[in-house]
Amino acid sequence: MLCLKCVTNSEWINSAKKNLTEVIIDHAHCEKKAALTGMNLMNTYPEKTDLGLEMADLVEEEIGHFRSVLKILQRRGETLTRDKGDDYAKELFKQLRKNKPERFLDHLLTAGIIEARSCERLQILAENIEDEELKRFYTTLAKSEAGHYVTFIKIAKEYFDETVVKQRLEELTNFEAELVKNLPNKPSMHG
Ligand SMILES: [Fe+2]
Ligand SMILES: [Fe+2]
Repeated sequence: MLCLKCVTNSEWINSAKKNLTEVIIDHAHCEKKAALTGMNLMNTYPEKTDLGLEMADLVEEEIGHFRSVLKILQRRGETLTRDKGDDYAKELFKQLRKNKPERFLDHLLTAGIIEARSCERLQILAENIEDEELKRFYTTLAKSEAGHYVTFIKIAKEYFDETVVKQRLEELTNFEAELVKNLPNKPSMHG
C-alpha cells in the first residue's frame, strides 16, 4: 500500500460506482492538476536540474493520462465540465511549511502521497467496476501513479537526508490518514 496508513472506506466505491461519470470527470481534472504540480515544481526550483528532468517526464505522462481520460469521456458521449475542486488535496497542501528548504521537501512528499492515494483508488476502481475497458485502463494507470510516488520519494532523498525524509513522510502520512478517515465518500477521485 505504498506509504499509506489507512485504506479507503468501502462506502467510497459504492458512491463511485453509482456516479461513475462524475468520477471520470473528476479524474480528468486530477490528471491535469498532477501535470500542473510538475510544472509548478519546475517553475519554483529552476536551478534543480535533476528535479527538472524528472518533472519533464512526469508532466508528459500526466498529460498523456489526461488525454486518455478525455477520450474515454468522448467515447461515452460525455463532456468535461468545470473542476469542482479537491478538498483532500487542498488540505494536504495546507501542510506545506512556509520556509525553504522545508517547503520544497513538503511539496515533494505531499505530491508523492497524493500519487499513492490515487494509485490505491484506481486499484479499487479496477477491482470493482464491470466495464472491461475501464478496468484495464485503471490497472495500467495505478501502476503509473505508483511509479510517480516512487519518483517523488527518490527526488526527496536526493535533496534531503534520508532520516529527515522518513520523519516528515511519517508526519504527513499520519495527517493524510486522519483526513481520509473523515472524507465524505463523494463520487470523486479523492472524495
Ligand atoms: Fe496520472
Ligand atoms: Fe501521477
